[in-house]
Amino acid sequence: MSVNHLNFDLTKTFEQSVEETEIPERTGEIKKVHIVEKLKSIGVDLEDVVLGNFDQIGEISARKNRDPRSELYKTKGAFFRPNYERGILIYHLIKEFKLKSFLEIGFGRGYVTACAALAMNEMGEGGQITTVDPALSEEGLNNLASSFPKDFFSNVNFVKGMSQEYLPSLNQNFDMIYIDGDHRYSAVKSDWENCKDKYNKFLLFDDYHLPGKDQKDIHCSNLIDQIQDDSKELIIMDRRIFLDDRGYTDEEIDYGQVLLTKA
Ligand SMILES: C[S@@+](CC[C@H](N)C(=O)[O-])C[C@H]1O[C@@H](n2cnc3c(N)ncnc32)[C@H](O)[C@@H]1O
Repeated sequence: MSVNHLNFDLTKTFEQSVEETEIPERTGEIKKVHIVEKLKSIGVDLEDVVLGNFDQIGEISARKNRDPRSELYKTKGAFFRPNYERGILIYHLIKEFKLKSFLEIGFGRGYVTACAALAMNEMGEGGQITTVDPALSEEGLNNLASSFPKDFFSNVNFVKGMSQEYLPSLNQNFDMIYIDGDHRYSAVKSDWENCKDKYNKFLLFDDYHLPGKDQKDIHCSNLIDQIQDDSKELIIMDRRIFLDDRGYTDEEIDYGQVLLTKA
């Protein structure tokens, strides 16, 4: 698999390239929906979801290790599945709405790209995926590809670079955009401004934290709370379909992903 390199200085960080912006307070005022209800509302019953496919993809591209000093490492095991439900959601949105183009900001280890590629390959209608990340490497991609059937990623355009550099140069729209790159306020704001007129049907944000959940350098909700859009909904997910061996109730889940939908 080959990576398309953007022609810019990768040593320059985003922080150096923008002026620091004041971060607005979070409001936490957002409509909430449980992932199972959301899937139902788009025509998917849990019985239709093939969990094994997401487990196979996640095993290679998303599984995480627990800290060996933690209690859960001792009592539940070494590994966990961090929010594999995002892949389930994206896969089913693509299939139910026959989406033909998908842009991802932040490739990570490739879980979402692979879930989107599975949906596009199964539909067989020549859909296209673009994923942009400054950390992409040819070696990493070849390792990933070796675990999938030949040509599995043939419809993916891998772009090595920062979204803030790449998006302004794009003169195309996408049926769906997934914003999951740099989660600091200025970066999410810039991604939102660059994407808000570029999605045809869905825009999904990762990592909306409800008030009370604080994590360094994660300011997605500070931006999302500013967006005026009646379709805006927080989808409560993460080990709601896959087993939650932490034993969290739905009420204890204090973050999720935010979906905007165009009619
Ligand atoms: C949480 S991971 C993405 C996970 C992936 N979307 C998934 O769900 O499988 C975040 C990624 O964003 C990338 N990233 C950080 N800053 C970025 C930027 N300015 N533009 C694009 N990607 C960025 C990081 O290199 C990292 O790989």
